[in-house]
This record gives sequence, C-alpha cells and structure tokens, in this order.
Amino acid sequence: MKAIRLHAPGGVDNLVVEEIATPTPAAGEALVRVHAAGITRGELDWPVDRLPAIPSYELSGTVVALGEGAVGVAPGQAVCALTDFDRDGVAAEYAAVPAERLALKPSRLNDAESAALPLAALSAMQGLFDHGRLQAGQRVLVLGAAGGVGMFAVQLASLRGAYVIASTSAENVDAVRALGAHEVVDSKAVDFPAVEPVHLVFDTAGGDRLARSVSLLEQGGRLVSVAEEPPRDLCAERGVEGMHFVVEPNRVQLGELTGLADQGLLRVLVGATYPLADARKAFERSLARGGRGKVVLMVVGGDGRTGEGAASAGAMGH
Ligand SMILES: NC(=O)c1ccc[n+]([C@@H]2O[C@H](COP(=O)([O-])OP(=O)(O)OC[C@H]3O[C@@H](n4cnc5c(N)ncnc54)[C@H](OP(=O)(O)O)[C@@H]3O)[C@@H](O)[C@H]2O)c1
Repeated sequence: MKAIRLHAPGGVDNLVVEEIATPTPAAGEALVRVHAAGITRGELDWPVDRLPAIPSYELSGTVVALGEGAVGVAPGQAVCALTDFDRDGVAAEYAAVPAERLALKPSRLNDAESAALPLAALSAMQGLFDHGRLQAGQRVLVLGAAGGVGMFAVQLASLRGAYVIASTSAENVDAVRALGAHEVVDSKAVDFPAVEPVHLVFDTAGGDRLARSVSLLEQGGRLVSVAEEPPRDLCAERGVEGMHFVVEPNRVQLGELTGLADQGLLRVLVGATYPLADARKAFERSLARGGRGKVVLMVVGGDGRTGEGAASAGAMGH
C-alpha cells in the first residue's frame, strides 16, 4: 500500500511517500481502508523514538477486515477514530486499528470533515469538561479559537451553557463569532484589556498569550492547555491551577461528538485538503500561520477515486 512515513526527526523534509506492506489486523483489530486522515500542527515531533513512523492519528474510512476477536464493528461499516500515539498513524491507504477505537462515521459529514473531528473535538471535550470542569453559567476564555481544537472548544462550551470568550487573530474574528462565541477578542491585544475574569482558560496556542491569560483567571480558576505546560510560577502567584494534558482515545465521548455533528449541532471547519502524495505540502500548511480549522489528507475520495488529483487546498465547511 501507499503510505507516508517520517524517517528522521526534523519535520516535513523527512516525510517520504512509499510502498509498504498492507498491515494484517492482529487480534482485536480492524483493518480500515482510509478515506481521509486529519493532521495536527506539531505532530511530527511526537514519534521520534519509533522511526520510521506513519503520521496522522485520526481517520475516516471503511472497515474491510477484522482480526480475531474484534467486536463492535463489521466489514463495510463507515467509521472514524482517534488512534493511539504510541504506534503507527493512519496516513496510508490502510490502517490496522484496535476495533474499540472505532466509532461510526457521522452520516451528515463528508470524509474530510469526519477525519477532522476525532482528535481535535476529543481534545476540546476532555480539556473543557474532564480537566477544566467547566459548567453551565461559568465563563471560559478559549485561546486559538479558530484552530483545529479551538473551533470545537468554542462550540462545545457554548452548547454546555457557558459564557464563551474567544481569542483569535483578527482575520478569523467573524468565523469564530459564527461558531457561537459570545465575545471575540483579538489575540494580539495586550493583556486582553476588555475581558472580565473567567473561571477557565482553555489554551490551544501556547506562548505569550497563554502567559498573559493567567491574570484573567478568578481565584480558584483553572488554566488547561493542550499546547504546552502553563507557567507554574504565574499560576501559583495568582492562586489558580495550571495543567497540560494529552488527549486520550475514548469511543463513548467520540460517539457523543459524532452524535452532535449528526444533529447539526457541531460544525467542522476543514481549512485545506491535500492528496496523500502531497503530505509534505499539507504539513507545511499546518505549520504556517493564518490557517483556520484542520488540514486533512485525502486518501480515497468518497466516490472511490484515489486522492491524487481528486482534492486540492481550499476552504470547506459544513
Ligand atoms: N496535548 C494534546 O493531546 C494535543 C491534542 C491536540 C493538539 N495538540 C497541540 O495543541 C496545539 C493546537 O492544536 P490545533 O490542532 O488546534 O492547532 P492549530 O489549529 O494549528 O493552532 C491553534 C491556534 O494556535 C495559534 N498558533 C500559535 N502558534 C501557531 C503556529 N506556529 N502556527 C499556526 N498557528 C499558531 C493560532 O491561533 P491565532 O490565529 O489566534 O494566532 C491557531 O489557530 C498544537 O500545538 C497541537 O500540537 C495537543
């Protein structure tokens, strides 16, 4: 099968399109024909201890075979998943995935949208509610609100009944407002001057704005980041809890999220799609500033065509 593999640390230049053996599903695994694979900025830094490695940890595709004892899915079913970070990813024509990771693909979403949802939406859900303990009526500030994770965080917090303040770069203000943010502030505004104290800061951007946001938290509040470790000294001074976490696959939560998408309550912004063979360009796009939503590799088009030439970079939405 055709696969993308990272052969050395250092990023995009070390990605190679190559032919490798199609995996055989082990016990408990399903073999999935990959239709689309979502990518995440910075993920090429993750697998450096197990190279060569296939990147991308979220897919939309069709089950084609089952390993011994694999239950919960059947050949022919359309599925989506967040896959584990300690094994090969899914930027390939086929992927062997533990069957327990697979959820039914939302029927309302196309393959690109379905592949853009699992990692980012689970990160938002777990960050806001499991780690951030956000509840209805509380105030939350989402940093990087137009990004892959941020777009879901704004929507999920708003659906939960929280008051959502979103920080994003100026060109994305309207898009973020359309996702349901109650206030949108320019991420470059020094010290977020007009923002009242919040219970939770959910950070997806890191850097300077993460540090600046500590001063907006009320006593006993929380700062939860997917991007990097929050500044512990500033958090201690302010009397707030700061934490970084790593998203975990969770089929039940993924089912809740795909259910929301199927009800039309959760939108997915796909900023750009690229054929599998253009993986380097796709990763370059994900690393560049000014994007919105997720970048997705198209492996097989929904109509069965191979991705090469079948998709191009462009704005899409649902
Ligand atoms: N720990 C975990 O489990 C986990 C899970 C998912 C993602 N992540 C990490 O969390 C971060 C956010 O993921 P994501 O998919 O939401 O990423 P993303 O869409 O690329 O970035 C989110 C936002 O961060 C800002 N940003 C800061 N530095 C940037 C840069 N160098 N290039 C582009 N944008 C930059 C942008 O906001 P503005 O336009 O407002 O500047 C962007 O919208 C990434 O670092 C990713 O690796 C970690």
